[in-house]
Amino acid sequence: MSDNTPNGNNAPSKHPLSNSVAFEESEDTRCNNTNNRTIGDIIESRFTRRQVLKGSLGVSVMAGMAATGGNLLFPDPVIADDTPDATFNFKEVEAKVTADHEVAEGYSADILLRWGDPVIAGAPPFDPTDQSAEAQAMQFGYNNDFLGFIPLNDSAERGLLVVNHEYTNEELMFPGMGRQDRDANFALITKEHVDIEMMAHGGTVVEIENGANGWQVVPDSKYNRRITAETEMLISGPCAGHDRMKTSYSTDGTKVRGMFNNCAGGVTPWGTWLAAEENVNGYFWNKDALAGHPEERNLQRMGAPGQWYSWGKFHDRFDIAKEPNELNRFGWVVEIDPKDPTSTPKKRTALGRFKHEGAETIINTDGRLVVYMGDDQRFDYVYKFVSDAVVDTENPDNNTDLLDSGVLSVARFDESGTVDWMPLVFGQGPLTEENDFASQADVLIETRRAADLLGATPMDRPEDVQPNKRTGAVYVLLTNNTKRTDEQLHAANPRAENKFGHIIEIQPANGDHSLASARWEVLVTCGDPTANVGASFNPETTENGWFGMPDNCAIDADGRLWIATDGNSGKKTGRTDGVWSMETAGKLRGTSRHFYRCPEGAELCGPTFTPDDTTLFVANQHPADGSTFDEPSTRWPDFDDKLPPRPSVVAITKKDGGKIG
Ligand code: FEO
Ligand code: CA
Ligand code: CA
Ligand code: CA
Repeated sequence: MSDNTPNGNNAPSKHPLSNSVAFEESEDTRCNNTNNRTIGDIIESRFTRRQVLKGSLGVSVMAGMAATGGNLLFPDPVIADDTPDATFNFKEVEAKVTADHEVAEGYSADILLRWGDPVIAGAPPFDPTDQSAEAQAMQFGYNNDFLGFIPLNDSAERGLLVVNHEYTNEELMFPGMGRQDRDANFALITKEHVDIEMMAHGGTVVEIENGANGWQVVPDSKYNRRITAETEMLISGPCAGHDRMKTSYSTDGTKVRGMFNNCAGGVTPWGTWLAAEENVNGYFWNKDALAGHPEERNLQRMGAPGQWYSWGKFHDRFDIAKEPNELNRFGWVVEIDPKDPTSTPKKRTALGRFKHEGAETIINTDGRLVVYMGDDQRFDYVYKFVSDAVVDTENPDNNTDLLDSGVLSVARFDESGTVDWMPLVFGQGPLTEENDFASQADVLIETRRAADLLGATPMDRPEDVQPNKRTGAVYVLLTNNTKRTDEQLHAANPRAENKFGHIIEIQPANGDHSLASARWEVLVTCGDPTANVGASFNPETTENGWFGMPDNCAIDADGRLWIATDGNSGKKTGRTDGVWSMETAGKLRGTSRHFYRCPEGAELCGPTFTPDDTTLFVANQHPADGSTFDEPSTRWPDFDDKLPPRPSVVAITKKDGGKIG
């Protein structure tokens, strides 16, 4: 899609596409048409950008940084060089493309849950040739993404697995759909298909237990629950009841049906699940109604209506002409209490509205909750929320509405290694009536535009932003941005045509995440270190050990970083996506090792550990992406001619017990 149009997402589609292609393109498309060359950009860096980032000096500087474990750009390293040895100990898997998945020697990777598996008592068995919305509403949804493990009775062997179902691939779900362009698919997709898709979105709660046969779902558990694009939810926080949240379904603007495109997320310290809504623009219909629409500027900034799905053909609320405010009710972080299967999920509007990737939390040194969040689109921003109230670690009931009040801030990275957090507060700076903000609700509904006005730093697609509870560091995973030009280089986004992404480490002073600024540095720039693409992995990294496109991550109980990727392929990197470990301290800082390889076409999502680090759960999303139901590139995980490839959750354990890695 062209970036020359005011809104690239509304440009006509020219090529065959699956919805995963649509998502990738959307994230790649620029919705942010501000020119936030920040104040920091003007400051002279210690090396000129070209010296550092281009040509042989660039490569040697990067290699030098990695080799010394320090950073020549910022001679006062964030992490002291005091960890002499490797903190990971496993034999790497080979980086390549295979139909099956593989984990490091000595470990088991067992399928726990597949698309279509029964979740709710009475769910019918999966039959891909006779699927219905009613069946799907009781079965495990499609494209498992975020995973959270919430122990029951403090056990590491029994708990609730919460799962986001991000989106659906009609060409892999439905027989005979084929891989065609969107207009052709619009003609083929019936209301029946759409209703199945809506039930395959949302999330799942299942009770799981580690017994004699390893991890298994507890059938018919009272906790087992499906949340879909139709589940009733409450709108909570500053936007509840606002005029721009009112629709014919909710004339007082306090209720909404469903959540969708839930990508990553988080688990709060009190055991609730945060499901982040990402590319919600793609579900809305009627491009002809955009010009002159009362929310035109807001819709444009979100890239809406994307019209990737046919939902708006059959359900009026997804047509922006028929229900002009419906999209304002999506793009939030949803809080769900998995321990109460009758609880109503709440959209926490204080956390802002944008294409939320994740929502990872940490209790600050002063007891307040901090939530770190990325807005996953080219040239969009990194955010954090600091609650007003402190977390009650004894009584979870006292945290019920903690996420409704606090301060949302957006990041401005400067070239000297400082990140400033700029509060998005109505009445402060440019966030006033002069710029059409009449209340905090307006600021939150149009978080992106408010952040534009504050001069936030446009990043290379911020995905997970993950605090490390052991060290206080925060990792910002930036997937890629091939549209960044030489003129747009910035120390925090240091490569033009950034195909392989990078990871930034933020270190707040004294572990205080509420401070208005912190130090940052680039941990690693990704890609093949031998290919002269400016990759800066530690030279100890093997040919299997490097990766491109970091996306989600997990930090184990020992504070070690594990990376999950999205976008590696035979063509791009000669490998599938997977899990890599990453050293973050000492002379091995920046060394990664390949632990788990996805099956062909799959993206690795949701890595999460049990509290004792003996199990790593991972989600393989869209296996066989790029092919079709009728001719799949892999039939993982069943390898049965009668079954299509199925997105599935995998439990990884050590064969002789013990901690992972
Ligand atoms: Fe859903 Fe940003 O990946
Ligand atoms: Ca994460
Ligand atoms: Ca991604
Ligand atoms: Ca992802």
